[in-house]
Amino acid sequence: MQKVIILGITGSVGATALRILNNDPEKFYLTGFSYHSNFKQAQDIARIWKPLAVSCTNPHIQAEEIEYWKKEGILFFERMEELLSIEYDAVLVAVVGSIGALATKTAADQGKRILLANKESLVMAGSIIMESVAKNSATLVPVDSEHSSLFRLLHNSRAIDSRSIKKLILTASGGPFRTHTPEEIMQTRKEDVLKHPTWNMGQKITVDSASMVNKALELMEASHLFGMDYNHLDAVIHSKSLVHAILQYNDGSHSFHVSHPDMVYPVAHALYYPHAAPEILPSVALGDYEQISFERIDPKKYPAFFIGKEAGARGGIFPSIFNAANEKAVSLFLEDKIRFQQIPAAIEHALNKIPDQPASSLEDFMEIDQMARDIVSEYFKGKYA
Ligand SMILES: NC(=O)c1ccc[n+]([C@@H]2O[C@H](COP(=O)([O-])OP(=O)(O)OC[C@H]3O[C@@H](n4cnc5c(N)ncnc54)[C@H](OP(=O)(O)O)[C@@H]3O)[C@@H](O)[C@H]2O)c1
Repeated sequence: MQKVIILGITGSVGATALRILNNDPEKFYLTGFSYHSNFKQAQDIARIWKPLAVSCTNPHIQAEEIEYWKKEGILFFERMEELLSIEYDAVLVAVVGSIGALATKTAADQGKRILLANKESLVMAGSIIMESVAKNSATLVPVDSEHSSLFRLLHNSRAIDSRSIKKLILTASGGPFRTHTPEEIMQTRKEDVLKHPTWNMGQKITVDSASMVNKALELMEASHLFGMDYNHLDAVIHSKSLVHAILQYNDGSHSFHVSHPDMVYPVAHALYYPHAAPEILPSVALGDYEQISFERIDPKKYPAFFIGKEAGARGGIFPSIFNAANEKAVSLFLEDKIRFQQIPAAIEHALNKIPDQPASSLEDFMEIDQMARDIVSEYFKGKYA
């Protein structure tokens, strides 16, 4: 029986993980979870799983809500990382945003098994988290579909020779605007941005997929997870989202990792790791392989991807600035305060405004993160649409 904690259980990845746990209650026990605003859903989950502890990260939580957990005999923590003081085997970090970094670092310091969906953790403080993973013999299993695919491809190819690998290539669907012209993208509305053609995800990552900020964040995540520099990392558009990652070898050949675009595959892989997950969804029918094609990423349509790629290659504090500026701009967009097209300029502004400086602790990176958010707020002050 695996004791699992899920941070961000009320989200899209959290829901997928619960589906897997519900299918195998002999194997998994949900010992704790966090939610932010969805109290009703959290209550429903707790009634079924009877966890030992929960955490609500919303600072404006009502006193009655805390009282409810106490009455139910469930330990309550205000901070997600405090939840990691209970006994557990694995934690799935599936909250959205750089807020996840502290919990990821805490689990790494404890030498635990971390199932990481929250890419922002590694984007913000990848060097510190990876150092702690190595020092404390923690296990980090990626849940982002592309990284899960690379993890599996690399595992298989280790049997051959890892020096034979030339590039790790991530695929991107291209989002809802792949077939639009740059002029059409300028006219886009919020409902168009939130209509992802292949993946069903939370709002923030859906916006990031439309701008391709998500792919830039994923390159940053991959560079930490797999210890690769930007000469050995690439991304390409593959609109059907069947191939999630590609290994390019020095001998000119490639390996693809293929599955339907459903998060159940990477989440199940991580939950069962190092054992094989049971059959959950059917394989892609070989007849569907004719749909597989690739395109280059157009800088005119996806400027934010290239801004992010450059920030990632610079390293240091720049990935953190890129991420935090984007998080702030996306939340303003979701609140209908700015337009989608204003996001890249806001990110670029924050990157230009903050001078390079050393950062060697999580606190340093959190300070940079806050600085970038404040700069974006200031940038839009008085300019809201
Ligand atoms: N969705 C996907 O298919 C997918 C794929 C790959 C990677 N990811 C990554 O997985 C993470 C989660 O994505 P998602 O799509 O599942 O997001 P989501 O559906 O928006 O869910 C986010 C979760 O985080 C909680 N949350 C929101 N604000 C929070 C805060 N300030 N502090 C702590 N918790 C907060 C939410 O709680 P409430 O709902 O209770 O407010 C919810 O449980 C992201 O880092 C994303 O990039 C997602």
